[in-house]
Amino acid sequence: MGRGLPEGDVRLWPSVKRRSELTTPYRGREGQWSWIAHRVTVVGVLLYLFAYIVDTALVGWGPDAYNRVVAVYHHPIIQIMELGLVGAVMYHALNGIRIMIIDFWPRAADHHARLFWGTMLLFGGAMAPITWIMGRRIIEATFG
Ligand code: HEM
Repeated sequence: MGRGLPEGDVRLWPSVKRRSELTTPYRGREGQWSWIAHRVTVVGVLLYLFAYIVDTALVGWGPDAYNRVVAVYHHPIIQIMELGLVGAVMYHALNGIRIMIIDFWPRAADHHARLFWGTMLLFGGAMAPITWIMGRRIIEATFG
């Protein structure tokens, strides 16, 4: 028969069975989710930065064009997105510090889950007053 997979019932192929029993590298939990969130938040920040550069460039078309476009920042949905932007920067910054702690002190990786939840606690603690201040203004501006 030469090389190749043996014939017959797939479940009896020892090598194939062993391969299917390997665990996925995507394990979920704190490590994977914080890694994904670090990237997702930075994409949001970069999109906002791009919009900011474009609307600032509109100054070249005169005050009328600029004022008309930046008026969109008074819209409540945009203001809620700005709150999200603050949250994204806050998460990225705090999680970045957590990553740097592990980079400088590799033994901190032994406590990575605890470090992650500590970071989340700091994040929540920082975002609570910010959400209160920004949220109140958004509600007042929207509903009078
Ligand atoms: C404010 C404080 C910030 C801290 C402490 C911080 C920290 C970090 C760290 C430690 C990483 C590496 C992540 C890793 O090795 O897995 C990283 C990645 C990155 N950061 Fe920041 N960062 C900050 C702000 C920003 C800002 C404002 C931007 C952009 C506007 C930015 C853009 C990026 C990008 C594009 C990456 C690469 C993401 C990737 O590898 O997929 N960061 N940051």
